[in-house]
Amino acid sequence: MDIQKILAARTIREFKEEAIPEEDWQDLLTVAQQAVSSQGRQLWRLLQLDDAGLRQKIALHAPGMTRQLATADKFIFFIAKKGIERDEHIDRLAGAIGIFTEEGLDGWLARQTFIPLGQMLLAAGQIGIQACAMEGFDRFKIEALLIKQDLLQADEQLVVAAAFGYQEEAAKGEKVRKSLGDLFTKY
Ligand SMILES: Cc1cc2nc3c(=O)[nH]c(=O)nc-3n(C[C@H](O)[C@H](O)[C@H](O)COP(=O)(O)O)c2cc1C
Repeated sequence: MDIQKILAARTIREFKEEAIPEEDWQDLLTVAQQAVSSQGRQLWRLLQLDDAGLRQKIALHAPGMTRQLATADKFIFFIAKKGIERDEHIDRLAGAIGIFTEEGLDGWLARQTFIPLGQMLLAAGQIGIQACAMEGFDRFKIEALLIKQDLLQADEQLVVAAAFGYQEEAAKGEKVRKSLGDLFTKY
């Protein structure tokens, strides 16, 4: 692991017309596939959108990701299940951490997708691929669109999107982060 690459990585919103080598992309997908999940359930999947026409339709409901939809070589949605049946394992977890009272079961399912997302972002930086995570979309309108296209099921929810490719130009401005002291406490 190259820590300097991790520390230097920036969010990129506009990509040049250059394809990610298939082998690299398969590696990134495998990183997601290998990610940990609560109870090992992996109740999520990825939807890759290559079709330019569909990307344009989605962009109409996604003000926060229009440039990424237009330019990224790879564009994926992280999709989680929703409305799953409770069972004894979930009830045990719910009893331990209160997932029903705090955020509901669908929130727990959605939260799981941020693990493969984070790992893909990290891995992409390692192999010189730039990325952007995105929540700037109208979830319900795009869900309806994808259901009509038979790309999403009624028991699934769109959680977050990610774009991958090679940057058109470097991120502008300084990288701004809170200090480690603000984010880390030891007792
Ligand atoms: C969960 C999540 C959602 C995000 N949503 C969007 C988005 O909808 N559109 C966008 O342009 N950037 C989005 N971003 C990118 C962040 O604004 C960006 O990663 C952050 O400002 C740090 O930028 P930097 O790495 O260049 O410093 C999102 C990032 C995360 C982690």
